[in-house]
Amino acid sequence: MKLVEIIRTSDTSDETYKICLNFGEKLGKTCITCKDTFGFVVNRLIIPYTAEAMRMHERGDASIKDIDIAMKLGAGYPMGPFELSDLVGLDTFIRALAAFERCEPNNPLFKPVQLIQKYMSNLKLPPIQKPTQRRSYAGFPTAQASAANFANSFQLLVTAPSSSSSSTSSATPYNTSGETMANDKIPKGYVNMTHQVAGHTVHVGTDEIGLLKSIDDGSVLKPGGSQWCAAREIKFYEQLLTSTDPAVLPLKEFVPEYRGTQTLTIGNKTINFIKLQDLTHGMLEPCIIDIKIGRQTWDPLATDAKKEAEASKYQQCKTTVGFCIPGFQTYHLISNTYKKFGRDYGKKLNQNTVTDALKMFLNGDSGLNRQLVTSILTSLWAIQSWMRKQKNYRFYSTSILIVYDARKLRQVIESQRRQSPKSFPSALEVGNRKSGGASPTDLSPTGNNLNRTLSDDGDTLSELPKSLPKQVYKKIQRSRSSTNNYEQEMRNMRNNYHQMLDDLVGAYDGKKEWVFVKMIDFAHTFNTNELNETQANGLDLNYLDGIEHLCSIFEEFLKMCE
Ligand SMILES: Nc1ncnc2c1ncn2[C@@H]1O[C@H](COP(=O)(O)OP(=O)(O)OP(=O)(O)O)[C@@H](O)[C@H]1O
Ligand SMILES: [Mg+2]
Repeated sequence: MKLVEIIRTSDTSDETYKICLNFGEKLGKTCITCKDTFGFVVNRLIIPYTAEAMRMHERGDASIKDIDIAMKLGAGYPMGPFELSDLVGLDTFIRALAAFERCEPNNPLFKPVQLIQKYMSNLKLPPIQKPTQRRSYAGFPTAQASAANFANSFQLLVTAPSSSSSSTSSATPYNTSGETMANDKIPKGYVNMTHQVAGHTVHVGTDEIGLLKSIDDGSVLKPGGSQWCAAREIKFYEQLLTSTDPAVLPLKEFVPEYRGTQTLTIGNKTINFIKLQDLTHGMLEPCIIDIKIGRQTWDPLATDAKKEAEASKYQQCKTTVGFCIPGFQTYHLISNTYKKFGRDYGKKLNQNTVTDALKMFLNGDSGLNRQLVTSILTSLWAIQSWMRKQKNYRFYSTSILIVYDARKLRQVIESQRRQSPKSFPSALEVGNRKSGGASPTDLSPTGNNLNRTLSDDGDTLSELPKSLPKQVYKKIQRSRSSTNNYEQEMRNMRNNYHQMLDDLVGAYDGKKEWVFVKMIDFAHTFNTNELNETQANGLDLNYLDGIEHLCSIFEEFLKMCE
């Protein structure tokens, strides 16, 4: 956390105060000053606020999920009150509220929250829990995942039978995507990976388990599907880990960090998982696209039926550009919502519309961002350049996973706009001139909106006489169309607030990576020494064709940013 609250008592000398201030600043913190009053600034405000949110839920006024969403979108908070209390730990929260009540026994803001008290005692938990996993969020990846976890704990409190002290809940877990997930049989210490955009699930009775996340270290756990595929993928990662072959070494940079395997018993099934670095780790608004590379998505050992089934999938895309898109999600900066696209959408894409889909993924409806495009293209080029040489592998049905944080993209756009307002109109302002969300057809395949100014639709700031301040212009506009301008102002306020909070809490300190491009899914990857002479001959042209096309699309995107 970037914030330091410096508490100045009546006995603190100016010198001591200044030393503390300097020390905080040297550590790169933002310091504020507060008197020696209980809770200081942050806790004094956050504790009663959270208690009120819980009381609101207790009264049945709104759900946990809706309260969190409301406070994020309506007040611009980076996390909702329930997500935040999950991060802090309910035990800590209850303790703090009780301490506040002792300081001001008559203040209704500090009265215990009945719901939590009641269920905590039903569960026969000790009055103050020792710090548990739930609070040790070292490496816990996203606010969303955190929300999922909190809701599990919260719903445990409100639904578990009084005799139970199990840490798994039979309640339907909270899921930011709004879908129901089978969380009930997931062992302690793991949660569903809410940001999975494609891929298979494993059946456990009537449930389906996809990727899981480890709360301890934030790894993703990919369930092994068929024994054969899982074994092949594990073999791939383990060989790569120990390989010292200079021709293979660059590949290590192109794949997520491999963290071994993990066997979990879920229901009555024992599943072997592959543990990998979570590429969305720490991202607040992760945008993820799974791009399956290659016209041929079946391996040389596939049956005729499998070949036929694979050949018929994503045909238009695969045959023209040599890749396809089984799924993606983007956090749409203009509407502040996640947009998710699954395989049905991907199957309809063709040579032209695939570009629109990629632009939509990049939040390109208000102009492609050069920094984002460059960062992705640099990684794609690196993979392409290695593929132009390598003769050790044949990659069938692997994907390139591109991940970026829309929260950081917003910051980048805003700071570019501040530096050069003319050439970088606020994405949010420009975007607000369009209706709600983007659709593939909203996006011009060739247009570069980044350099567009507000004058595009004739409704301009630049047409105004120089002497007329913007506020006056806004007032005139408001009298013409009060709803639109009110909404726009609210959006701008919210976005500015987001920006301000990010700056304050240091969501990105400039060092943290916010864009990843990695190769994933090696269940059908072969060493060329496993193949016959014809199959093993030369380069992996199937892969090369796809990556070359993908690079050329991003090269076009880069030109649009010129
Ligand atoms: N390291 C990772 N970090 C974050 N998300 C990941 C990671 N690996 C996979 N995912 C998510 O899981 C999805 C599926 O992954 P993957 O392609 O490896 O599995 P799959 O297609 O089910 O594999 P298989 O071909 O073996 O059936 C990806 O589209 C992505 O959303
Ligand atoms: Mg896959």
